[in-house]
Amino acid sequence: MAISKKIEHFMENSSWIRKMFEEGNALKKRIGEENVCDFSLGNPISEPPPLFHQALQLVVNDQTPGQHRYMPNAGYPETRKYIADILSKESDLPVSEDHIIMTCGAAAGLNVIFKTILNPRDEVIIFSPYFAEYIFYVNNNAGTPKIVETTDNFNINIHNLEKAINDKTKAVLVNSPNNPTGVVYHESVLKEICTLLKQKSKDYNENIYLISDEPYKKIVYDNIVVPTILKLYNHSIIVNSHSKDLSLPGERIGYIGVSPQCTDWEQIIAGAVFCNRTLGFVNAPALMQRVIRRLKNVSVNIRDYQQKRDLLYSSLIKMGYEMIKPQGAFYFFPKSPIKDELEFIKILYSKNILTVPGRGFGRSGHFRISYCVAQSVIERSLEGFKEAIYQSLDAGN
Ligand SMILES: Cc1ncc(COP(=O)(O)O)c(C=O)c1O
Repeated sequence: MAISKKIEHFMENSSWIRKMFEEGNALKKRIGEENVCDFSLGNPISEPPPLFHQALQLVVNDQTPGQHRYMPNAGYPETRKYIADILSKESDLPVSEDHIIMTCGAAAGLNVIFKTILNPRDEVIIFSPYFAEYIFYVNNNAGTPKIVETTDNFNINIHNLEKAINDKTKAVLVNSPNNPTGVVYHESVLKEICTLLKQKSKDYNENIYLISDEPYKKIVYDNIVVPTILKLYNHSIIVNSHSKDLSLPGERIGYIGVSPQCTDWEQIIAGAVFCNRTLGFVNAPALMQRVIRRLKNVSVNIRDYQQKRDLLYSSLIKMGYEMIKPQGAFYFFPKSPIKDELEFIKILYSKNILTVPGRGFGRSGHFRISYCVAQSVIERSLEGFKEAIYQSLDAGN
């Protein structure tokens, strides 16, 4: 076997999203792309905002010498200052460029931070359902993912969290707005987590870090504001990217921000700069670093996502699907009308609708619908969703 047993095992057990993507491609080849309703990927269909293209033109046309050379591994100071000012305004804390590292998206940011803080077998608490890649990011960096179930409404159960913390717990990872549920954690929930972590850090005489993965932070509905953890907990670390809020997943631009109140922030930043370099990212893409700092307060059209959420939510509820109304991101995580969600996914597939089974996110009996698709795809899918639920109810399950 050319590849390691560990990678072989991960590949076999991983990524239902990828599997659905591949099956979807086969279906598209067979019946034509225009006839498939693909809700399997979190790859936004919307284009970046027009101001992005203007900023890109400016940056491309600027031929000042030296702009394509190596740079500090943390990224351009001006871009880090731009991010720091945003975090500082949100938190009322003195966040400076020294607390920021630009990364190749949130995926790299999480790998860099885990590489930096984890000793072998240190545990990272992950709430289920979760973004499936988290498991690999923790494993990549010698840690052990520890899964904690959320409630039926996908909120954090503080007692479950308390039971999971032990002397090996190095970090708790939260993701709000959440992929795959669309849940946004209320400030009171985050405060409860922080109070618990303060107590447990004291009990074990070791800082437990709270890491907040926030690529959907700006994609929120009904005037909700996502609370910042920087204000709530000293040992907090933010990971973010512009893959979703500027629709730039192919450009790989994101950042890590460490709270200035974290007693070890200098050590963590120095370690993370080293890891950003030696994991081979070296630095975040130079061009994108120069573009995004020109895009203050710019994002994709959130109202467009809200319209899609509202249309699909009201239609599916009317048909009899059970699910919570997401307050952010662009996912639904409905209950499967039949116990085995794989069976239901197959029924949807027979209606040319692609979704992902909940077991891919650590919660069977549900499935994920990703609605970052064209409105016409949603409209075309409705009859199929209706037939699928009636068919499964008729079957007496
Ligand atoms: C919750 C979550 N975290 C991280 C990522 C990775 O994002 P990026 O493209 O910034 O690496 C994704 C991508 O879908 C995500 O859904």
